[in-house]
Formats: sequence, C-alpha cells, structure tokens
Amino acid sequence: MAVTQFEPAYARQCFPCWDEPSFKANFNITLLDVPSELVTLSNMPVDEEELNGNLKTVYYQESPVMSTYLVAVVIGLFDYIEDHTPDGIKVRVYSQVGKANQGKFALHVALKTLGFYKDYFQMPYSLPKLDMVAIPDFACGAMENYGLVTYREKDLLFDDHHSAAANKQRVATVVAHELAHQWFGNLVTMEWWTDLWLNEGFATWMSYMAKDKLFPEWKIWTQFFDHECSEGLRLDGLAKSHPIEVEVNHASEIDEIFDTISYKKGASIIQMLKGYVGGPHFQNSLATYIKRHAWSNARTNDLWAVLKEECNEPTIDKIMNSWTKQEGYPVLSVKMKNQTLEIKQSRFLYAGSHDRCRWIIPITYCCGDYDSLISLLMEKKSETYDIKDLLSNITDPARSWIKLNVEQIGFFRVKYDDGLAAKLRYAIEHKCLSVTDRLGILDDSFALCMARKMSLTSLLTFMAAYREELEHTVLSNLIKIIGKIERIVADARPELMNYINQFFIGLLLPAAANFGWDPKQGESHLDAMSRGDIFTALAVLGHEETINEANSRFNAFLNDRNTPLLHPDIRKAAYVAVMQKVTSSNKAGLASLLKVYRETDLSQEKIRILGSLASCPDESVVYEALNFALSSEVRKQDAVFVLAVSKEGREVAWKWLKNNWDKIWTTYGSGLLLNRFVGAIVSSFASSEKMKEIGMFFGNRTQASMVRTLKQSMEQIYINSKWVQTIRNDKDLAEAVKKLANK
Ligand code: BES
Ligand code: ZN
Repeated sequence: MAVTQFEPAYARQCFPCWDEPSFKANFNITLLDVPSELVTLSNMPVDEEELNGNLKTVYYQESPVMSTYLVAVVIGLFDYIEDHTPDGIKVRVYSQVGKANQGKFALHVALKTLGFYKDYFQMPYSLPKLDMVAIPDFACGAMENYGLVTYREKDLLFDDHHSAAANKQRVATVVAHELAHQWFGNLVTMEWWTDLWLNEGFATWMSYMAKDKLFPEWKIWTQFFDHECSEGLRLDGLAKSHPIEVEVNHASEIDEIFDTISYKKGASIIQMLKGYVGGPHFQNSLATYIKRHAWSNARTNDLWAVLKEECNEPTIDKIMNSWTKQEGYPVLSVKMKNQTLEIKQSRFLYAGSHDRCRWIIPITYCCGDYDSLISLLMEKKSETYDIKDLLSNITDPARSWIKLNVEQIGFFRVKYDDGLAAKLRYAIEHKCLSVTDRLGILDDSFALCMARKMSLTSLLTFMAAYREELEHTVLSNLIKIIGKIERIVADARPELMNYINQFFIGLLLPAAANFGWDPKQGESHLDAMSRGDIFTALAVLGHEETINEANSRFNAFLNDRNTPLLHPDIRKAAYVAVMQKVTSSNKAGLASLLKVYRETDLSQEKIRILGSLASCPDESVVYEALNFALSSEVRKQDAVFVLAVSKEGREVAWKWLKNNWDKIWTTYGSGLLLNRFVGAIVSSFASSEKMKEIGMFFGNRTQASMVRTLKQSMEQIYINSKWVQTIRNDKDLAEAVKKLANK
C-alpha cells in the first residue's frame, strides 16, 4: 500500500511546489506504471486509464484550486461500499479486503453530514466525489485531503459485534470533523499556520453541530464540555501555554501547534462566541464567510469582519482578540454582599494566578431557576451587579443559588465565596442544576484544588454531593478526577489511601448497581458508555467484587469470543480487571490478553487490550507491557496506548523511557507521537528532585517540536509538588476522609 500525508509541510518532499497554504493551484495528477490489480485514488475522479501489460497509467481530472497540503494519493488492495447524496455526489468507504461491511456506519454518517453542512453553510460540497479510506498504519487520527479523506482504521470502521458505543461515537466524531474541513480548511483555507485554529477549532466545533443533528440522543453538547472545554482549560491553565494565534516562523514549528489550544480552546471560544451572538446570527455569518473566501484564504480578522457586519456587533474583534491573541483565561471570583454580586477577574494559573491580564467576558448567570437568565459583558477587572430584583422573586432561601457561566458556555472558571458555594451544593444534591452545570462546578472545584485555592478536604466533601449521579458526562469527569486525586494522595498521604479508596468506591457503586454488567434493552447510548467507564474505574480502585466478576466474564469470553457475557462496552473494564491480578509470578491473565490481541483483526479490540496492559500494579509487569509496545507486534501508531500506566508503575515507566529513549527517538523523533511518550510518563511526578532529574536527562535530548511539551510537563510536576505540600499540611483531611469512607 502507498499513502501520502502532506499536512503540514510534506508535499515539498513529493514534488517541487510553493508548499504554503496560501499558494493554491490546480492539480493534474497522473499515476504511472501502477500494478493493474491495485486500486488507485486521488483527490479527483479518474479521467482516463491506460493499460500497459500488467501496469496501468491513471490520469485524474484537474482539481479546482487547492492548497498543496491537501493533495493526496492512495494505492493498494481495497474493498469498498458506496452510496450517493441526493445531489449525486458519489461517496465511498474503502477498507482492507474483507472489511467492507465495517464501513457502513461511517458511510451513513458521511451522507447525512454532507447534507447537514450543505444546509448549514448554504454551500454544497465542492467536489464531484468523496472517498474515505481506512489505512492500517496512520500517525494521526485522520486527514482531510480534499475529496480523499484518510483515517486510522479505528476511527472509520465499526464492527456490529465487537465495537463499543464509545467506538461508534468516535467514528462519527472523526468523520464529521474531517468533512467539516471540506468547507472549513479546504474550500476556505487559513492564510498561514498562525491561523490554524480556523481549521481545527472550527472542524472540532462543527462536528458537534453535526453529531447533535444526527444523534440527538447522544446529548453531545453536554459531552462538549468534558471533551473539549475542560481539556482546553486544563492545558491553558499552565504558564507555558500559548495564544490561539501563534507566530510560526519555520516549518519545524508547525507540528507542535496541532494541540489542545488550537483544537479544544479554539472550539470552546467558538462556542462562547456563538452563545454571545446567537445561533442564527452565527450561522449566517459563517455562511457569508465561506461564500466570501471560497477557493481562497482567510485570516482570523476576516472572520471577525463578517461577524461585525452580520450581527451588527462592532466590537466583536475587540472581544475576541482578548481570547485569541492572549494566552490563558480568567477565573472569576464571585462574592455576594448585601444582595450585590461582586465579580473580579484574574488569570487562572495552576501554579499561582496573577493580575496583569484582562479579558472581555460574555457572562451569564441565573438565580434559583433557569428562567432568570441574565447575560452581560464584563470588560473591567472587577464589577458589581445589583441582584435585589432577582432575589426578591425567591421565597425559599434554599432556592437562592446563583450559577455563573450557565451551561458552561464561557471559557473561564468561577470561584464562589463560601455562602454561594454552599447553596450550589444544596442545588446539586436536590437536582436543581442541569447536567453541564453540575459538571462545570465539579471541574472548576477540582482545578481550584490543584491550584491550591480550595483544600482537598473541601473538594472531597463536595464530591460526596455526586453520590447519586448517573449522567454520563458528569460520571466521566468524576472518574477522571478520582484518578488524579488517587495519584496525588499516594504521594502526599499514603497512610490515607485505604480510606480514600473506600470513599471513591462508595461514590461509584450506586452508578455501578444502576447500570449493571449487562446491556439493558432500549438503554441509551450514554448509559452504554458509562457502564464500561464505571467498571474500569472500580477495577483500578481495587474493588474486589468488580475484579472477580470481570475475570469470570473474561474467562467465558476466552472460550467463546461471541459470548453475551462480555459485551464490547465492558471489555476494556474486564481487561483492566484482569491486569489487576497479574503479578510477575502469575502472568496467566497477561498471556490470555495477548492471545486475544493476536487473534483479533479489529483495531479497536487491539487498542482496548493495549490500553489495559500497563494498568497492572506490579512494576515488572508494567515494564514488560511497555516493552511489548515497542515490539514488532504493535503498530507504530498504537504504541502510545500502552502508556496508560498504573500509579504503582510510574517510576518503572520513567526508567523504561530512559532505557529506550534512543529507540523511541529514532522511531518517533520526527513525528507528532513523540510528545505523547514524554507527556504521559513525565507529568505524573510530584517532587522537585524528580524535576531536576528529568531536566538533566532531557538537557541535551530535546528537539524543536518537543520543547513546549517538555516545559509543560515540567510545570505540571512543579504544580503537583506544591499540591503535595499543601495536602501534607491539610490538618482536617484525615478526619474528613475517615468520615467520608464510612458513609
Ligand atoms: N488535519 C488534521 C490531521 C493532522 C494533524 C495533520 C496533525 C497534520 C498534523 C485532522 O483534521 C485532524 O484534526 N485529525 C484529528 C482527529 C479529529 C477528530 C480531532 C486527529 O488526527 O487526531
Ligand atoms: Zn482537523
């Protein structure tokens, strides 16, 4: 098989060209002397084919003007399935021979999504055909080449019997993202890589619009906060972040900006902007923008210009510049005094906030119920708002809760004073708040705790309010937080681990009992995803019943890969549970997992297994698992999945990284994947000694595309180390944790 990947700056390695996004050209592509039995694909349909013995020459139709990074060619043995849009565009999904059926779901999503984008952008898809190809070995998730989108197998193919609900959602996400690029990116292209977020932020955001349209039952906008906004806030809370619009001076600097800031912060500020100007205005503006810059290029300012006109908002650029040209984001400190809200903004930093920056912030709040929604624009460092009238409508004092950033539309955090926080807690326990608001308050509380603005005692006490939580996204965030607290407490207060474990298990058990191990008829997509997440978390927490049940179901699966006892949604949980029992003297479970790994042909199954191997508490098993990641049995693209290392395996993983650095470096040094090795293994440490040691090791081993990731990881260690000290001094913690554990 032969596949091209030209973004960001590799077309120049294939043919001489002005290899920058603003130099658009028409391409006439010809493939010479291809073995005649192979399928050949390029951006455009075939114009003519000449057969010459066993070889063929394929001429493609001339393309419309397009940037070099979107040119593509694929050659290989493939099967495909196809369908047509109502306006006659031929859409095909290509896969390895024998897997054509697994393309059905993606084909369905593609057809529906093309229709949706055509309506939304008021502009049809711009080429006569669209091919989507599953590539067995592919460094990123997918690539939006014009008319010829390439994908990792796991992000395109779906197996009805062995793929999980989460796999399905991922396929829809990636397809919707790449198809959004056919407008945002391919038809209208960023002028220069500085404006990469116009591509990636928008494609990320648009994919939610499409998913919401196609699968309303997924409640995808509640997931937006957990997957995009929360992750954006996490990275952008580091001092070593960067602005959305970032200067790029050399091709070697481009790879690094395909990061959380361009994708997730980008998508989040788009969501904030849409909230501010309103959905219909926003849509009209995007349609005008696409029409105005079609077959050409645009900068961030061109977008603001359209929004100014369409929405009659002369200050849009001023507002948005504070979010795209400035790094970081604000935390709003809110106090209530004499029926007046006092709000102050300062930059949120985990390592300690500071006051020099200012944002223009679209704020919303409501009081007691969601009908009381107030919107305003905060421009100063601090402001006060009289809310007497709002409060006067409330007779029940318990209902006088105030929630800022309603539905978490804004890209900022909120810190409430004690009185307001207590009322919000009451509102959560009494189910007065929406899913996204419950989630946002939890995420902010955790961040404030890591930034040492809230004690761990308060955070844990607050988390107890989520004991009856059953909503997927809130649970998913809760589980993320639990994992991080476990690690930090293991460093700071190991003597409290048992109590903490018991508390967390108690928090998750009601949800586990609710979902059960087996799928329920007619249950929601979200519940199906939660089931796996909950049991995975319980297994990692060492919950014995979960581990035993999972192991017995796994044994049934070993005898029969189609057993109903191990639905794809709970397989990852079972694999993790199996690994909890593996030790250096009893590796039977590991051997069984590897047997499943070797026998399956489904990439998603292989990845579930890879992702469970290093979750083992036994250090030498972790080392072995990591070695397996670099073996010839694991595709280069998949090794990073093994980096999900147990908290017990942290030290040995670092040792492994050092021992194997030369090999990792030669294999991944020139690509995007190297940073994942560094970030995943390095940033979980929590002491200044470790920081020194790691700094020494990388002293003469860094290259340009790694610099920022390394700095961010070091900063994370610093944050962790400060956090550990604070937790050591938390005098109330022991008593609080013991109480919580026994509830
Ligand atoms: N344009 C990117 C692929 C890319 C990434 C090319 C980095 C060059 C460098 C593509 O549209 C993309 O964003 N892919 C994502 C998947 C998406 C659903 C977030 C990916 O590869 O993870
Ligand atoms: Zn993209």
